[in-house]
Amino acid sequence: MTSAKLAETANALVADGKGILAADESSPTIKKRFDGIKIASTEENRRDYRDMLFSTPKANRYISGAILYDETIRQKAADGKTLVAKLKSAGIIPGIKVDMGAKPLAGHPDETVTEGLDGLRDRLKEYAKLGARFTKWRGVYRISDAAPSPACVIANAHALARYAALAQEAGLVPIVEPEVLMDGDHTIDVCEEVTEEVLRSVYAELANQNVWLEGTLLKPNMVISGKDCPEQAGVAEVAERTVRCLKRTVPAVVPGIVFLSGGQNDELATEHLDAMNKLGNLPWKLSFSYGRALQAAPLKAWSGKAKNLAAGQAAFLERAKANSEAATGRYA
Ligand code: 13P
Repeated sequence: MTSAKLAETANALVADGKGILAADESSPTIKKRFDGIKIASTEENRRDYRDMLFSTPKANRYISGAILYDETIRQKAADGKTLVAKLKSAGIIPGIKVDMGAKPLAGHPDETVTEGLDGLRDRLKEYAKLGARFTKWRGVYRISDAAPSPACVIANAHALARYAALAQEAGLVPIVEPEVLMDGDHTIDVCEEVTEEVLRSVYAELANQNVWLEGTLLKPNMVISGKDCPEQAGVAEVAERTVRCLKRTVPAVVPGIVFLSGGQNDELATEHLDAMNKLGNLPWKLSFSYGRALQAAPLKAWSGKAKNLAAGQAAFLERAKANSEAATGRYA
């Protein structure tokens, strides 16, 4: 019963031409985004912004689920309805970020391990009661001469797998998110090598912890050149290398892979996804779980003003539609 429910949710999240809106920015992160449009990060502004996105008419043509932050899953919109109820009535599956953030890894300067396992079983139960059907946990890996260290790779894989097992026990689909950051001047070769090592360790640990892969989704980075690398790989190369790396490491029973955008510009994030799907012959669905690449345009169009609600929603729908097309390799 639980397995059937997990598989049903996982498959619904990657239904044809659909992907996920990551709207789970922590309070410090959403403040950074709001600073960019010069509005205060008040509880009311955060609520109204997320309500604007979630209430976008026809968004569920392109968006299967939305990942919320702890504050958001408890919030009521100005009209008195909970944001979760609004998502459900819009045909969008509510999800929740359950990690407590990437914290410094002792003994390993500039590396992090994601925390939040203590008490997670009880928090998951509460989130399920609040209406969540899936969850997310993000491990973060920085590339430098010394990083990621084996300690960082092992610690994050272990935490991701422990989390995933607990989420499934609570009947919630775990999105497993190991993010190799694009920060740095490393080449795409290095990104591919590190991403492959990270994914191998994650799937080994998921197996150790008895995670049922059919009831999971993977949320990885794409294989791309470091942000400051003088030589930037083109779209075709990114697509080929990312798919090759995933085929080497991700079992075919995983129903879907939903990429993070990680700081890529909106248009490029869409083109990369489209190019991968155009390659065809893939064992899993390849779709999106973008934060910034879906939200940058609507955030700017809305700019914190009620009168810009429709403009914000139009900008969101446009990005969602483009990525929906990319998720089936039909983006022009
Ligand atoms: P970005 O697409 O902005 O990387 O956000 C996705 C996400 O959920 C990061 O944890």
